Parts: sequence; C-alpha cells; structure tokens
Amino acid sequence: MAALAASCKGSSRSAPVPPPPPPAGPAQVRRGPQIAQPAESSVIIAWLSNQPAVGSVEYVESLGNSAEVFEGAPASEHVIRLAGLKENTLYHYRLLHDGVVASEGHFFKTAPADPAAPLRCAVFGDSGSGTAAQLAVAAQVKISDPDLVLITGDVIYNVGAPHELDPAYFIPYRELIDRIPFYPSLGNHDVATAGGQPLLDALYLPRNNYTETEHYYSFDRGSVAHFIALDSNEDTTMGQPQWLWLDEDLAKAKSAGARWIFAYFHHPPYSSSSHGSSLDRRRNLGPLFDQFHVDFVFNGHDHDYERTYPLAAEEVVNADQEPDYTDPQGTVYIVTGGGGRDLYFSGLSDFTAVSESVHHHLQVDVRADKVEITAVRSDGSVLDRMSVAKTH
Ligand SMILES: [Fe+2]
Repeated sequence: MAALAASCKGSSRSAPVPPPPPPAGPAQVRRGPQIAQPAESSVIIAWLSNQPAVGSVEYVESLGNSAEVFEGAPASEHVIRLAGLKENTLYHYRLLHDGVVASEGHFFKTAPADPAAPLRCAVFGDSGSGTAAQLAVAAQVKISDPDLVLITGDVIYNVGAPHELDPAYFIPYRELIDRIPFYPSLGNHDVATAGGQPLLDALYLPRNNYTETEHYYSFDRGSVAHFIALDSNEDTTMGQPQWLWLDEDLAKAKSAGARWIFAYFHHPPYSSSSHGSSLDRRRNLGPLFDQFHVDFVFNGHDHDYERTYPLAAEEVVNADQEPDYTDPQGTVYIVTGGGGRDLYFSGLSDFTAVSESVHHHLQVDVRADKVEITAVRSDGSVLDRMSVAKTH
C-alpha cells in the first residue's frame, strides 16, 4: 500500500480528490452501556457509539461530588474503568461523547467490603431470541433486583452471529446490564459462529484461565460465594486443559475458604427433558464436583426447570430433608433453561425433586450460613423453593 501511494504521488495525472464527508452530527450511543467486573472500589462501564468520539463517564455519589473520567482518543468502542469508589455505595452516571451528554441517567452500586455480606444472584438460560417470553423473564429478573446474573448458555440465537447480539441480548436486557453485571456461559448456539467470539468480544468477562480467553472463568463475591463458568462445548475430559484448570480452581477456592461454590455451564449432567442427561459431562465433571463438594450446578440446554435432590457419586443423598437441607453430602443440580426460548417437556427421574416446563429464572440468595433458591415463573408466581444450610 505504501509503494502504491508513492507511485501515485509522482504521477502528473493524480486521481480526483473526493469531497470531504458532510459534517457529522454528535455521536450517538449504539449499544449499552453495560457494567462489568464490579468491585468494592471500581467498575467498568462499556458501550458502543455509532461513530468515533472521545467518550467519558460523568458519575456522582448520591450525596457527594461529581467526577468525570475521559478516554484519551476517539473510538467507537468505549471501555472506561471508574476507580477510587466507595464500597456498597450507589452511584449515578451518564455517558458523554466529545463532552456532549449522550445518554440518560444510569446507576450502579459498588460491592460491599464485608466479605461475608449477603448476595442475591439471578440465573437463567436458553434466553436469547427476543421473544415475549424472554422479556417477561427479564421483567421478573428486574423485580428480583439481583447483585449479579449468571446465564447457562444459548444467549444468542440462532448462531451467535454479530447481527443477533442486539435483538437477543443487548436490547432485551438494556434496563439490567447498565447496573447489574451479567456473567454468561456459552451454549451450543452461541459457539456456532467463530466459536462464540462475537459474543465474547462484546462482553468484558474475567480472564483467569490458562488461555486467558473468556470461554471459562471464575470469580468471587467476598468469601461467601465462588462462581465457576465452564464451556461445556469444549472438551471436559480429565486431563484436558479445562478439566485441569477446574481442578486447580476448585482447590484454590477451597483453600481460600470459599463458603459456597456454584458451577454453571450449558449441557446438563442431570436432566429428564428432551436432550436428557449429558452423561459424558456427568462422568467427566461429576467426580470433581463430588471431591470439592460443589454446592450447586446450574445448567440449560433443556428448556424447562428441573431440580435434583443432592447427588454424590451419581446417587441421591439426604432426600429425607427435602426441601430444606442442613449439611447435605451432595451437589444440587438445577436445569434452568426456561429463559425465553420455546419450552420442552419436563420429565421425572429418580434424581428429580421438582420439574416443570415453564419460563422462569432462579433467584439465589446467598448468606454465609444458608443459600435459598426460589424459582420464579415469568408471571411472577413461585414454582419451587429450597434451601441449604451449613452449620460448620
Ligand atoms: Fe442448547
């Protein structure tokens, strides 16, 4: 390209110079904002604009002074990290392009500094195709008002393509992602385009596995909860990179004193619906969940709700305590694939405590001594509730 430009410069008959583009109007927000990686004193705010601009975020504590963080150069993808924030504090913010206000007001709350502070998360999967059911579930998630959201895959129907991201995710969840961090895992539909890269490129997830990709990762919320997102589209066999990382991550979490461990991924080790149990994920991952006593595993793929009794070594344990358990000796597996896509039938197996074919989300309340899970239908009614208490 440089050689071509040089030869043109020397020509006596230069090409006509194109007229300059008409002056552009102010840049508009094209997607977002979304928040990511919230901590006690920092948060990431990210969005896209329809043309390059110098982005900034103006933010204000409810009763404090305002501040503004600027980018150094014009861009269309804006990623701004606010730091030096106060813990457990509500902040209002708005976006600016080239110093001009470009968004309405948004808000977020920083994480509490108390490592034992209670936490609420919402969980669902198989959500993303812009259906009325997806919006109905999203409205119930908004009412739950969680601190964070986990998604058990199939976030972007049909094939995880770039043009599907807005109708499947950023538009349906726009009133949530501006203040609540979402942590998706990848389903089979998400990875149908470039292995899921379009979705991962649009998010700002933790990168703490060996490959530093966002395909699988973990994060903590204080000492109360450790969350692990796996990519069950990838090989989960013992000795493979993801299995090795999971083994190490679980060992680290246990030695760090994580009170509760939650793992989530798309293909269910235990399901009585259309796809049924994924026996290879059960065989590959189940022994690790048993060894490290993972408390809960959330999955999707089957578009229904199904909760198991606690399971250890593939056997039901402590079923006599249903639905309020104390120190159970097994892992509770929940299929929560009713996030908005067409439903499948729900079935029953020996391991099934409750199942129902219905659009829903999970509301998971985590305290140091107890986790309570409420499954909420898209009409707001409660379809299931259970709890697990730990006495030591
Ligand atoms: Fe699926």
